Amino acid sequence: MIDPFGRDVSYLRVSVTDRCDFRCQYCMTEDMDFLPKAEVLSLEELNRMCSAFIDLGVEKLRITGGEPLVRRNIMWLFEHLSQHLESGTLKELTLTTNASQLARFATGLHTCGVRRVNVSLDSLNPRKFDRITRGGDLEQVMEGITTAQAAGLQVKINMVALKDVNEDEIDVMLSWCGERGFDMTLIEVMPMGDMTGGRLEQYLPLSLVRARLEERWTLTDLDYKSGGPARYVKVGESGGRLGFITPLTHNFCESCNRVRLTCTGQLYMCLGREDSANLRTPLRQDSSDAALKSAITAAITRKPEGHDFVIDRRNQEPVLDRHMSVTGG
Ligand code: GTP
Ligand code: 5AD
Ligand code: SF4
Repeated sequence: MIDPFGRDVSYLRVSVTDRCDFRCQYCMTEDMDFLPKAEVLSLEELNRMCSAFIDLGVEKLRITGGEPLVRRNIMWLFEHLSQHLESGTLKELTLTTNASQLARFATGLHTCGVRRVNVSLDSLNPRKFDRITRGGDLEQVMEGITTAQAAGLQVKINMVALKDVNEDEIDVMLSWCGERGFDMTLIEVMPMGDMTGGRLEQYLPLSLVRARLEERWTLTDLDYKSGGPARYVKVGESGGRLGFITPLTHNFCESCNRVRLTCTGQLYMCLGREDSANLRTPLRQDSSDAALKSAITAAITRKPEGHDFVIDRRNQEPVLDRHMSVTGG
């Protein structure tokens, strides 16, 4: 699938639920309304959706949420999707998780051919972790991470850089990841969903973080790519890799290879835009998948050149009303 700007769309991110057991401040409100079950695609329908995308050229599939591992019977989907790994049409099957349920699922995921997991972890301080996630239990997350590593899964830690919240912990996190052999990525907070509660003030440009880190660490640019938007450096002292995901300071849209499907079957061609295509109707209308595939192909022709996230201090409105939990990043 080639978009109008010549980019090959080979990476599909699939949100399997909008629900989550955490309420991270930058992702959800405290009292989110979740979707009624009837609107959510069944696991069979999600499997059909993913298979259609794979037929059309998707080689990398990332399962997201909300929190994907809170969806009931989620292993059924992984088991079915793993068949595309065995046939060789899919190159990578992976997920982004908050790790709260990972201890239960790590071994099963490995059996399904998952080799890497990205874990969202913004603090190593239990009280701060509880505050950022509004109730998350750090100990449970740690158990999930340890079990994943023991099961043979490579772990990457995603840390959203938040000014005055966790910026003092970036060094600690870097050492901690280095000791455990985890890659780490820092992410600039994106202005989505509810922007009240000082969200605007929490934006921390990673150009500044990098300059600060370089006072203590030797960072060398790498050519390494994990398939997502991160640009990686090698950290001399820890031997680990650190990635920077900079939707605001450096727009990486020119190399965008991905689209995202929500759990209701809406396809977002860009995380930072409103436009989406309804794939649920063609999916349900025609069991042969012909209508679905032509709807997917048509949607790809609408993929925009890029997003226009800006942190605008005069205008305190979010760029997008949509919460991050709808698409899972
Ligand atoms: P790798 O496969 O390890 O490279 O993962 P990834 O970076 O593609 O996925 P992950 O779920 O770890 O996402 C990390 C962060 O990157 C999340 O905050 C996403 O929202 C963000 N991200 C991924 N793709 C895009 C994109 O196209 N645009 C923007 N603005 N952010 C993105
Ligand atoms: N800005 C940047 N990253 C976000 N994430 C969730 N909400 C935001 C936001 N507003 C991150 C999570 C997770 C990834 C999928 O997206 O921490 O690691
Ligand atoms: Fe849940 Fe992830 Fe959103 Fe936090 S960022 S509320 S863990 S979906």
